[in-house]
Amino acid sequence: MTLQHMLSQRVQAALTAAGAPEAQAMLQPAARSEFGDYQANGVMSAAKQLKMNPRQLAQQVVDALDLTGIADKVEIAGPGFINIHLSPAFLAQQVMSARADAKLGVEPLPPQKVMVEYSSTNLAKEMHVGHLRSTIIGDAMARVLDFLGQQVIRQNHVGDWGTQFGMLIAHLLEHIEAGDSELALGDLEVFYREAKVRFDADPVFADRARQYVVQLQAGEPQVLALWQQFLDVSMSHCDAVYQKLGVQLTRADVRGESAYNDDLPVLVAELKAKGLLTESDGAQVVYLDAFKGRDGEAQAYIIQKKDGGYLYSTTDLAAIRYRVQQLQLDRCLYVVDARQALHFQQLYTVAEQAGWKPAALQLEHVAFGTMMGKDNKPFKTRSGDTVKLIELLDEAEERAFAVVSEKNPDLPEVERRRIAPVVGIGAVKYADLSKHRTSDYVFDWDSMLAFEGNTAPYLQYAYARVCSIFRKVDAFDAAAPVQLQEAAERGLALVLAQFADTLHQTARDSCPHYLCAYLYQLAAQYMRFYESCPVLKSEGAVQQSRLQLCRLTADTLRTGLGLLGIEVLETM
Ligand code: ARG
Repeated sequence: MTLQHMLSQRVQAALTAAGAPEAQAMLQPAARSEFGDYQANGVMSAAKQLKMNPRQLAQQVVDALDLTGIADKVEIAGPGFINIHLSPAFLAQQVMSARADAKLGVEPLPPQKVMVEYSSTNLAKEMHVGHLRSTIIGDAMARVLDFLGQQVIRQNHVGDWGTQFGMLIAHLLEHIEAGDSELALGDLEVFYREAKVRFDADPVFADRARQYVVQLQAGEPQVLALWQQFLDVSMSHCDAVYQKLGVQLTRADVRGESAYNDDLPVLVAELKAKGLLTESDGAQVVYLDAFKGRDGEAQAYIIQKKDGGYLYSTTDLAAIRYRVQQLQLDRCLYVVDARQALHFQQLYTVAEQAGWKPAALQLEHVAFGTMMGKDNKPFKTRSGDTVKLIELLDEAEERAFAVVSEKNPDLPEVERRRIAPVVGIGAVKYADLSKHRTSDYVFDWDSMLAFEGNTAPYLQYAYARVCSIFRKVDAFDAAAPVQLQEAAERGLALVLAQFADTLHQTARDSCPHYLCAYLYQLAAQYMRFYESCPVLKSEGAVQQSRLQLCRLTADTLRTGLGLLGIEVLETM
């Protein structure tokens, strides 16, 4: 059980004993250290309900509260807050058990099968910056859930189907005939643009493209082979990005829109049989009473167009059905842009109405805001084009190299080249993950690459600094007892003991920024400790105890950053 959970249960039991079994403990880390380490705020509203004096109820709760061996002081403050001060011996013991555990004392969550759908790029073009957030937020969530013992299924719902592929196939064939297809596919942005120009300018080409769409849908082997060839190249562009980002997606996780193609007519027939479909202007729609438009009419979720074609929404319904029936999930996370919020609300509602959502299944849209440029508009190149993700990442490495070279000019170039991608990619990822995912944020090279503040370089550097201690000490007894005497030692131990709660909350709310905020707090607390409690200049048992704190700090920073998909270096 995590620390906060355990304390919460104890307070809950005391509330029950004090005659308020319905009340919530409302236990949280104390806002300020003078209020202790944890605060239970539930007494006030409980007293109101029971028409009691809150301080009197608080006293009864405190009297019933059993925190033997855990807290050395419990006080009532203000109108009835309960402040809990954990005992140093208890905190020391928390540090020691974390040190003895490969997972740093983090207990698993009750086992669940969780799908994380992320990245889900459109393969007609190359990955651009708009795909960054889904890719790294999803990857961080998958790692966190995995660490917490969940059975994680990664899904990359790539856009590999649709009419634009006819145009791309037609263009590819021309290049194959000219013998330069490999070269032409080297830059998919250019390839797409050229194909589009051909399509708009040449009616014969456009006709051919439309023919290919029909043949593709009919499963014509030659056209399918060309389509496959194009997808392969496009996927390898994605793989290069994933590799650079250190993202754990493989080809085995890809299940694109096309995979659901054969199921779409079956799905429509099923919806029809269930009486959910209505014809509207020739299209087949599901009316959603829960979603009213401005005119007060129920909104329509379009399942099939007038011409018989299917939509993004149809495919998503088929995907839910597949995920529920084949993957047997407990929880589904869709890491997708917030601008698709309505789509997902409606999708989940239709799935429910169709009986495709088991009551216990959690369907969650893990929405995120837009990455903005300094002009507060969606991030673009100077000329207004979308920025290719691979180029952004290359630039991150180059900029990190410059920063590291400036900071550490004496380091051999090979060393600086080794550090640059770790810092550069880490900075880009961390800048994103540390913001609340639902807000838009301004992408700013200088602040993300700074070695001060809540940045990856700051945390990576903090990690390297802790590691350097272990190269300077004569001996470290990995089983040495921990004793907390100084306030800064105690403060550090408290933060270390909160790692499990942070991860559990990150998993619950799909908010990687909780973990970032925690790591930043840990690094700051470590600095306070380091300044007031000498490690190298101390001796004997005190030194060994402090080394234990250092070791757990380093391991927690490395593990935490690792769960965000960010690497560390022992020296930098
Ligand atoms: N390919 C889509 C896009 O780039 C995102 C897909 C999101 N996932 C989903 N199941 N609809 O906008």
